[in-house]
Amino acid sequence: MFTQKHIDNFSSHETPFYFYDLELLKNTLQKIKTSAPKNYHIHYALKANAHPTLLEIIRNAGLGADCVSGNEVKRALECNFKNSDIAFAGVGKSDKEINFALDNSIFCFNVESVHELKVINELAKNKSTKANIALRINPNVDAYTHKYITTGLEENKFGINPYEFDQVLDVLKNLENINFTGLHFHIGSQIQDLTPFKNLCLRANEINKWFIQKGYLLPHINLGGGLGIDYQNPDANSIPDFEKYFAIFKQFLELQPSQEIHFELGRSIIAQCGSLISRVLYIKNGINTNFAILDAGMTELIRPALYQAYHKIENISKLELPNSTKYDVVGPICESSDCFGKAVEMPLTERGDIIAIRSAGAYGEVMSNHYNLRDQVKSVFM
Ligand code: LLP
Repeated sequence: MFTQKHIDNFSSHETPFYFYDLELLKNTLQKIKTSAPKNYHIHYALKANAHPTLLEIIRNAGLGADCVSGNEVKRALECNFKNSDIAFAGVGKSDKEINFALDNSIFCFNVESVHELKVINELAKNKSTKANIALRINPNVDAYTHKYITTGLEENKFGINPYEFDQVLDVLKNLENINFTGLHFHIGSQIQDLTPFKNLCLRANEINKWFIQKGYLLPHINLGGGLGIDYQNPDANSIPDFEKYFAIFKQFLELQPSQEIHFELGRSIIAQCGSLISRVLYIKNGINTNFAILDAGMTELIRPALYQAYHKIENISKLELPNSTKYDVVGPICESSDCFGKAVEMPLTERGDIIAIRSAGAYGEVMSNHYNLRDQVKSVFM
């Protein structure tokens, strides 16, 4: 919720920029702490937002790091996450990235294929060390979310399929530089109905039992991330319902007492505390459509163009006025997909008005790019 204090602050900055509400981030982290049972270990998924200022707050709250590139592992280390709190996932880790993670003795590699297992073993052998690994399993559980962010179906490139398990165990027997320490699952992102998480628990129970029967009682079971947020009502639901989310796992996950439970949450931690702040450059009134042309575009926030994602748009220079006019809110980029929202109801809007695009803390700044040779987007914290 923006107040005069925010608007005064924003007026002194060149737009566009990302604004992060650090108090909301701290409150969100506190809520996670009070909602998660003591034996749940939460890793923050850096891919959602890897800004050092935010990472420091997240690390101080006691979370570990979930990384998907060598550079994310490097960033986590630079931001003082403990090596033993860093997990490294990703379907295509390069030798350079694996070597870097080996040199830094991270907590665990989440391994996505039989071939990758052999490569990590070889690289660890060259360094006379052992790599801790979890198998990323493709559980074939539908997350019922956008198809671009569904990851746990057989048609998706991620993870090892149950029909490969016998082969994996055969291969593992001969890999002397691998410590097999866990199972990893991640079925998708922006999951709003909790039923897919229940289905994931039931599937994870079966798979865990299968490995136990084969003689592998694994110390770590990682259920991934994916908890969705309310893009429609960022003020009413600024913190996701972590209690309900963790309650599903408490109720349906049946692990052995010695097994630790891990999560990798990204969006649910960081999305609501970030907004993309922009100014109106021009208004163009047509017969059927009015355009509000902003100085931010798909180069700063690509989610609407890429996933047809909804983000709430507000004219915060005119918060006290009623909505009266519909605008297509667009950016300056030379693409028709450079549109943040169609027929968005706003007060009569003018050049210079400040526009906030809400719930943009996750997969916003990190996915920005330099198309059209755009400047690097800046960040402001309050
Ligand atoms: N773990 C793994 C293995 C993942 O692939 C992801 C996200 C996460 C954890 C964190 O998921 P979260 O809690 O944030 O849902 N760019 C897209 C989202 C891509 C998600 C990729 N994987 C978007 O803007 O919606």
